[in-house]
Amino acid sequence: MTISENWLIRETAFDPERLHHKETVFTIGNGYLGTRGAFEEGYPGATPATLIHGVWDDAPLFFTELANAPDWLPFVLTVDGERFGLDRGEVLCYERVLDMRAGTLRREVRWRSPAGREVDVSIERFASLADEHVLAIRYRVTPLNGPAKIELRAGLDAYTDNWGLRHIEWLAQGSSDPQYLWMHSRTLKTNIELAYAAHLAVDDISGVEYHFWDADGRPTSVAHFTLSQGQTATAAKLITIYTSRDTDDPLAAAQAKLERAVEAGYARLREAHIAAWADEWAQCNVTIEGDDAADRALRYSLFQLLIAAPRHDDRVSIGAKTLSGFGYRGHVFWDTEVFILPFFTYTRPEIARNLLLYRYHTLPGAHQNAGAEGYEGAYYAWESAETGVETTPKWWPHPDGSLVRIWTGDIELHIISDIAYAVDQYWRVTGDDDFMRDYGAEIILDTAAFWGSRVEYNAEADRYEVTDVIGPDEWHDHVDNSVYTNRMIQYHLGLAFEVLDWLDEHAPEKGAELRRRLDLSHERLARWRDIEAKIKINYDPETGLMEQFDGYFDLRDVDIADYEPRTQAMDTLLRESGIDPNDTQLLKQPDVIMLLCLLADAYDDRARRANWDYYAPRTDHRYGSSLGPTFHAILACRLGMPEVAYEHFMHAAGADLEDSRGNAAEGIHGASCGGMWQAAVLGFAGLRVTPDGYRVEPHLPRHWKRLCFAFRHRGQPVEAVVENNK
Ligand code: BGC
Repeated sequence: MTISENWLIRETAFDPERLHHKETVFTIGNGYLGTRGAFEEGYPGATPATLIHGVWDDAPLFFTELANAPDWLPFVLTVDGERFGLDRGEVLCYERVLDMRAGTLRREVRWRSPAGREVDVSIERFASLADEHVLAIRYRVTPLNGPAKIELRAGLDAYTDNWGLRHIEWLAQGSSDPQYLWMHSRTLKTNIELAYAAHLAVDDISGVEYHFWDADGRPTSVAHFTLSQGQTATAAKLITIYTSRDTDDPLAAAQAKLERAVEAGYARLREAHIAAWADEWAQCNVTIEGDDAADRALRYSLFQLLIAAPRHDDRVSIGAKTLSGFGYRGHVFWDTEVFILPFFTYTRPEIARNLLLYRYHTLPGAHQNAGAEGYEGAYYAWESAETGVETTPKWWPHPDGSLVRIWTGDIELHIISDIAYAVDQYWRVTGDDDFMRDYGAEIILDTAAFWGSRVEYNAEADRYEVTDVIGPDEWHDHVDNSVYTNRMIQYHLGLAFEVLDWLDEHAPEKGAELRRRLDLSHERLARWRDIEAKIKINYDPETGLMEQFDGYFDLRDVDIADYEPRTQAMDTLLRESGIDPNDTQLLKQPDVIMLLCLLADAYDDRARRANWDYYAPRTDHRYGSSLGPTFHAILACRLGMPEVAYEHFMHAAGADLEDSRGNAAEGIHGASCGGMWQAAVLGFAGLRVTPDGYRVEPHLPRHWKRLCFAFRHRGQPVEAVVENNK
């Protein structure tokens, strides 16, 4: 079977300068864990990392982070005593391929050792989607210029760290037979146990000798054998992982699972894994005909989201950098609900439900956040981790050595309504009334209660205001009446009433219970109504233009063109020239454009046009937030400008694959990946779910022939094909 190139991410030369970027790009995973694309044999300065959902450990400044779990990759080859590595000898041929259809990562290298031994090496790895506790590596080696003595060392490594900070404490290890090994470790502060078991087997070669190397924290199974010139040996390393989050005895579970994996063998495990991927893609693939680069880049974004999505755990969520790097420490932001979730809501509602249940389970943390500030209800953290208690660092170490105060965790409140919005969207698209009754309604009402206590009444003007916040655009902090925040609060309170009415009609007992438990008294609801009617919204009904926050239009107007060409974000350049970005109208990301996309039906074309014309030129698309471009693409489609939308779409596509923002080493831009799906399906195809069904309003770029996508509407699978008839 030939696989279309659009299912492959191919690297044909190794560039040490791109080591960390490519580790991110070649991340694989299965929704339980993610493993960066570091090499099995290691490389100087490499950052191998395996991040497992829910395995948090304490970290200074950042409170907690996903701990870099023990490394399951180590697989070292020596040829006649010389160790294979890309940093030595000569690389004669090189190719690395991520096969997104199969969920496998493969590397083919022809290598000449310093002493002149030539070998072909072919390594394939996967994290099974069919069984999330199983990982596998297949290693092939062929000597090319004469017979060779081969040594293969397959090990585990407990000595990992997150950018220098250790989280793993080695406890014990052993081996009952030199082909089998196990290792037990735990996180230093949170005492989460991690148990790994592994097995090494070399197929069809006579006289293989196995040894167990018992180095503490690095148990290794070693195979020795001799190959004649041109003879290929194929070895398989199978690994199983359990943590104490999964079971009380993770070591026994890992060992039992390994027995079954060994019985099945690499080939059958691989088959089951590929079958699981085929099922997955059948539910959520998108195809862009007529544009291979866009097609591949979009699929890559979806692949990265799929490997980060928890399938069997509703107490974890997808962090801003997925499970692919240390950036943002694994913390969960609004990125998940506003950018990533729609892809799952429309294609894999079971996964969307898990992600929303994470927010339900973290309501106690959100109460704690509200209580700590003297507010009522649920106040979702700007950065959330295990419990939902705020984990945004208060201070951030600037590269120049100083500490910068971070305000987002104190005042970037809009995430609260963003989560309510995501619940609402999930409900409308899936029709999952049980979820709304049992969980969603509580999220919406409990967070509405927060707003009831947070919003301020301005008696003089007889209106409600929200002062001292940060909207999505973080280049302006401590602002009053952010139009995004206030308009989303207004929507949120409206939604709360709609949900209460729905409960009264369809689940009156639950409605009564929530009214009682959340103390939804007549007075409280009356205040919500009043806020909904009188909250300050900076919207000019004459022109449709919105002011991002009070006084924004009076700020200094800076022309980005004056700073071109540039390789840095505008806030940095402004600061360097002594200007505080807060004092200018330049935007990191577009609050008003986001609002026009989220509450699309509340605005007309005149408002869309007026705000696009005002805000798009004032936004740093290139180096501002990676969250911006895909929403520009959506709005541009709505405005009938698919070619402009396409530029933003392809710009988003470069964030990870091309490292166009220069920070892909820290991990995948998860929000941008989710935004890519939204731009394709909600933007270019123009899919809209309405009270009576759904429809499409396509705006395809001229060179696209066809856009095909799958989704589920109220449980029914739909295959959509949008043709370009221009
Ligand atoms: C953006 C936020 C985003 C966060 C995590 C920040 O740079 O401004 O909107 O939530 O990154 O991706």
